[in-house]
Amino acid sequence: MLDFALKMSRRKQMQLLLNVAKCGNAKTTPSQRNNASVAGAIPLDALDTGVSTQEKNIPFEQMPGPKGFPLLGTIPYHFPGGKFHGLQHNEVTDMCQKEYGTIYKETILPGFTLVHLFDPNDIETVFRADGKYPMREAFHTLAHFNKKFNNNTQGLLTSKKCFDQRLYQLICLNNQLYQMISCQDYISYEIRWCGIAVVCFNKRLGALQNHAPDSEAARFIDAVDIVMDVSQKEFKQLPWYRLFNTPTFKRLAKAQYIIRQLAVKYSQKALEDVQKRLDAGEDVTGEQGDLIPYLMSKTELTEDQVLTVISELILAGVDTTGHHLAFTLYLLALNKDKQDILYKEINENIPHNDQPTENEVSSLSYLKAVLKESHRVLPVAPGNIRKTVKDLVLSGYTIPAGVSVAIHTNWVGKQETYFKDSHKFKPERWLRINGSSTNSHPFAYLPFGFGPRSCIGKRFAEQESTLALIKILKNFHIDYVGEDLKIECSITNTPIIIRKQ
Ligand code: HEM
Repeated sequence: MLDFALKMSRRKQMQLLLNVAKCGNAKTTPSQRNNASVAGAIPLDALDTGVSTQEKNIPFEQMPGPKGFPLLGTIPYHFPGGKFHGLQHNEVTDMCQKEYGTIYKETILPGFTLVHLFDPNDIETVFRADGKYPMREAFHTLAHFNKKFNNNTQGLLTSKKCFDQRLYQLICLNNQLYQMISCQDYISYEIRWCGIAVVCFNKRLGALQNHAPDSEAARFIDAVDIVMDVSQKEFKQLPWYRLFNTPTFKRLAKAQYIIRQLAVKYSQKALEDVQKRLDAGEDVTGEQGDLIPYLMSKTELTEDQVLTVISELILAGVDTTGHHLAFTLYLLALNKDKQDILYKEINENIPHNDQPTENEVSSLSYLKAVLKESHRVLPVAPGNIRKTVKDLVLSGYTIPAGVSVAIHTNWVGKQETYFKDSHKFKPERWLRINGSSTNSHPFAYLPFGFGPRSCIGKRFAEQESTLALIKILKNFHIDYVGEDLKIECSITNTPIIIRKQ
């Protein structure tokens, strides 16, 4: 849980330490999960399946980058005394980008080379060549846990491939689920501080009401923190966990066990509730947010797979939305003129204090622009990863199939070339004025990734942030009374906000 020091006055004279609980959720299917969010989204059917047409063919070996140690790769640079020691991921990539340019490679461990991309043309080439079944390698330690203790059942986050038939079926189904979840009348819900539980279990966990250290919500949130922490360190440590149950691996396993227990407990409850409704003669169609029964009955997924998918959804959905909301509130607190415009828009379009209707919400173009700009200025996801499925030419270098690439859209989002006044918080850049809007490269801004493996939680996350902002702005004026914002760059960019004494 994040302590966010905000002073809220105008509408309600009060100063509070707002606990922006970690929220999250959501879903979609491959074809609809094309979400280039810059105006003029890129249709998936525009995806090229051919090899890049860029010209030069410089051999891969000649690509610059930090030279690794024999048998150990670049990991020792993170050890005490090493040149990356104590630096966060973004600081390391910034440093290397300055030294090597907009494309460089590093062999993190023998057999695992990562190419770093900073040019939107290269990013476009990679995504367009992704095809129907994009590959991604991430969350290695969690994947190892699943291999060892979970019958090798991987979920959406941990699965490398997208072509496991049943998993792919799930991903396709996500389209339906996505529709189902996002078309529900979320407007009629109160803002869910632990929204992911609503998505997965049709139930609130009560994180806001009870966040005592021994509460279920607090234990769950701590467990998520641990899994995220261990996962981000895996690029900095030798993977001894593959050979032994190291203390770090045991820590992850314990945390994952808590998440899993929660998934089992509430999945069971969700199924019992559905049974009761069926017994009472109710028609259970899946329209009421019954994700688990829906997955169990409409897919060929095993129970293990459903639980793994649910565990990963809650893992991915907890931090992300909460951080995005915290960043947005922070930016609005710092930019009072923008806060005032937003306040005016909300009050003009939603003059009452009842739950807003879908139409009212969709009329809030400035609010949408605020959320977009917040993703650009203070993005939650540090970037994307893909594994090339075919040989590509990127910035003139030949990249063989099977190499992982790190896509640094966050860096691109800060460049003047693509975003004028890039250091400024300017929601206006996203507004369509006279039919046109910002003219940046369409692959310069992808906060939720791109294509069939883009964020399944995008729509839900957007809805949740929208409703939260409406509710907060209608009631409070936001001031920031904390120390200067610090960001911890881990699997997500986490705001570290310390209240001034
Ligand atoms: C502000 C909120 C969020 C941001 C910025 C965000 C961002 C991202 C990004 C960048 C990716 C990688 C996409 C790619 O590789 O192309 C991703 C994947 C994913 N996200 Fe989110 N996310 C958010 C909220 C959520 C929520 C609420 C959930 C839970 C329902 C969620 C679940 C997932 C899952 C399961 C994946 C992996 C999808 C796959 O590989 O098929 N995310 N997200």
